[in-house]
Amino acid sequence: SDRVVLGPLVGAIDQGTSSTRFLVFNAKTAELLSHHQVEIKQKFPKEGWVEQDPKEILQSVYECVEKTCEKLNQLNIDITNIKAVGVSNQRETTVVWDKTTGEPLYNAIVWLDLRTQPTVERLLKIIPGQNTSFFKTRTGLPLSTYFSAVKLRWLLDNVEEIRQAVRDGRAMFGTIDSWLIWSLTGGKNGGVHCTDVTNASRTMLFNIHSLEWDSELCHFFDVPMEILPKVRSSSEIYGLMKSGALTGVPISGCLGDQSAALVGQMCFKDGQAKNTYGTGCFLLYNTGQKPVLSEHGLLTTVAYKLGRDKPVYYALEGSVAIAGAVVRWLRDNLGIVKSSSEIEKLAAEVGTSYGCYFVPAFSGLYAPYWEPSARGIICGLTQFTNKNHIAFAALEAVCFQTREILDAMNKDCGIPLSELQVDGGMTNNKILMQLQADILCIPVVKPSMPETTALGAAMAAGAAEGVGVWSLNPGDLTAVTWERFEPQINPEESEYRYARWKKAVMKSMGWEI
Ligand code: G3P
Repeated sequence: SDRVVLGPLVGAIDQGTSSTRFLVFNAKTAELLSHHQVEIKQKFPKEGWVEQDPKEILQSVYECVEKTCEKLNQLNIDITNIKAVGVSNQRETTVVWDKTTGEPLYNAIVWLDLRTQPTVERLLKIIPGQNTSFFKTRTGLPLSTYFSAVKLRWLLDNVEEIRQAVRDGRAMFGTIDSWLIWSLTGGKNGGVHCTDVTNASRTMLFNIHSLEWDSELCHFFDVPMEILPKVRSSSEIYGLMKSGALTGVPISGCLGDQSAALVGQMCFKDGQAKNTYGTGCFLLYNTGQKPVLSEHGLLTTVAYKLGRDKPVYYALEGSVAIAGAVVRWLRDNLGIVKSSSEIEKLAAEVGTSYGCYFVPAFSGLYAPYWEPSARGIICGLTQFTNKNHIAFAALEAVCFQTREILDAMNKDCGIPLSELQVDGGMTNNKILMQLQADILCIPVVKPSMPETTALGAAMAAGAAEGVGVWSLNPGDLTAVTWERFEPQINPEESEYRYARWKKAVMKSMGWEI
């Protein structure tokens, strides 16, 4: 039968904490043509530990690519039109593998993992003034369990196979982007060991001004520099796919998922911001070509560098560890919902938490508190409280946490945001979106296609030198439309609920350490 003629297409691998996706876009309009998604197993071997199997992650990528290509074939769309592939990924998650066998030497330690708290405390003792912000001017980050350097330190301290592989010159370190690009471009048979500036900026080994690995930081964390990947821009040809339906297609975009979403939302100007609701929740504010240091608990991070000779852009970031993960917890640990989407119905049936507050501090609290001693609490319970109220409180928690990082952002930037651009899987939940507008007291604006992260990675890949099928002119993306949610409750009520939330947050602190 006749093939549908569409012009150049671009694929994007979106390897998130909860799932892997492969999506194919039309490079002229940004229309999403087909996709496939596979959920990723989380392992919790000990309290506070979170691991994933790097091989399962890689397999999920292959499966998503193959299934998406099958779907395109069924739609009569010629997959030879796919001109490039971009990668976006969960950031900070740390993998060490053996370059001679291609095998991981330990499970991936996921960004949410708390095992490195003792490592953080030990390192803090040798920092002047025991100041967690000591490396902030160089890295943009506070010393915390969140970033890759301490995870790598833990692996070197605790896994003999890794120490041996380092001694033998067989070890390679990478965040998920590096692991995937190395494997997809040939692995042990000549795979390319690289990362991009956005992912590198989340390791705490990277100088965000010089855009190079920092030898002093590597020395401080006692990390051998020869195991680190080469740092490249976010948009250039890294290598070619070496197997599967897309063999020979260049991989030419790479961004940490939150940076990818900023690009996908086309926040290219100083002062533009987006909030992505995934496993966690991340608000990024483009500060242009200069890094701005926060005084209110936000991170400074590399936003993107779209080409080898293009300028680097920076962002202020408010990171919330638990957003979608709270819904997964209600599903997997309490069995209150059978599927994640069911939470919307449950919450809608009551339309209030009835005074119940849920602080999901499962991994301590990130921005703006950076409080490792916090643990989750549900409070304000009465005999009247039921699972609907708890479901509602869980959604409200996502909105309150966003309000906290938005408040911090407004203080750092001086000019309050007048509306919030949002994206990510949870934005399909209309109750959540309305609640968010109510709690922020500003409109919330969501694109028709919530897979902005993948779109950003596809844009970077399609625009790369030597590919050149995607212009980064926002006006060209005709397939993107927007939906607005206006605040509907009065600001006094919103403030009252927010004040109660803050009280609950105070009660969540001081449980550990
Ligand atoms: O920093 C972690 C972040 O990149 C994870 O994103 O979408 O999996 O919550 P997500």
